[in-house]
Amino acid sequence: MKTGLTTTILPADAAGLDAAARCLGEGGLVAFPTETVYGLGADATNATAVARIYQAKGRPAFNPLIAHVASLEAARAIGRFDARATALGKALWPGPLTLVLPKAPDCPVAELATAGLETVAIRVPAHATAQAILRAFGKPVVAPSANLSGHVSPTTAQHVQSDLHGRIDLIIDGGPVEVGVESTVVGCFATPLLLRPGGVAREKIEAVLGQALAQPPADRASETNKPLAPGMLSSHYAPRTKVRLNAVRCEPGEALLGFGPHAIPGTEAAAAILNLSPRGDLTEAATHLFGYLRELDAKRATAIAVMPIPWEGLGEAINDRLRRAAVDRE
Ligand code: TXA
Ligand code: MG
Repeated sequence: MKTGLTTTILPADAAGLDAAARCLGEGGLVAFPTETVYGLGADATNATAVARIYQAKGRPAFNPLIAHVASLEAARAIGRFDARATALGKALWPGPLTLVLPKAPDCPVAELATAGLETVAIRVPAHATAQAILRAFGKPVVAPSANLSGHVSPTTAQHVQSDLHGRIDLIIDGGPVEVGVESTVVGCFATPLLLRPGGVAREKIEAVLGQALAQPPADRASETNKPLAPGMLSSHYAPRTKVRLNAVRCEPGEALLGFGPHAIPGTEAAAAILNLSPRGDLTEAATHLFGYLRELDAKRATAIAVMPIPWEGLGEAINDRLRRAAVDRE
């Protein structure tokens, strides 16, 4: 279902950046590249604009959004930073890290964007285009991934277009993204929690904190009906084709998503084959993950068989997204 908007696509040049800032100021929806995935931005302080994000994506309103700002200094106006949050911000921002913090006293982010929580998620993206838009606009920008809710996150402007054409105002095309999986979300609570594995590996965050990140308690969602990281729930990042994990052979008619230099039996009868990283590099694999899932999803195979991916470094985020893609759906 389209909302009947005219979606303009502009390159990430001076005129494009200018149009993006203007559109945000008018309460519009602008998709733009970050280093992780393309985001769908709106003025975080404008409740009507924020509501339009939920409508355009078909996203449940209980799933809160990340507020993006250009610097740690700007982030301090939104969230309350203790020593550990400050250390993380200084070490890993700008970059693919999101911190969930208590709201600052006069937090300007619209209530709808935080879904009624006492906390707010904040990120300082590193991508030059994202930085330029945030600096030109001068206010926080909420930006979920620029896909329809439940779909695979977009890593090119074309992915955004295929999901959201006619539903948003503007797409800034800055080419393919570098990281390819969403930011790591860390809850800065008494015990720091890894709410979502992502573009910064757990090991790097633990090195800054000098302590291990805990997993969010699994039963928290059902207890309070307010999930700690609602986007973490069940069927997310889903291609239409069934996904089969840890494949050690390829069944006839399946599409194969490979990893590493080794072949597995049965590939001669595969509907299609893509390899996330023939040399077994997890950073390269993350870059290709969502695009390859979209490509294989279009092959109308009986299933997408995925070879085992190691768990270290970005492997944790890749395995997390694949596990969600493989959740059985109606
Ligand atoms: O890389 C990224 O993070 C991308 C780019 C565009 O910045 N954005 C992104 O946003 O992935 P989204 O909306 O798809 O995911 C945001 C995640 C969700 O899992 C959401 O539940 C969680 O952050 N989140 C947001 N606010 C939260 C809060 N106050 N407490 C706990 N989790 C929160
Ligand atoms: Mg998303």
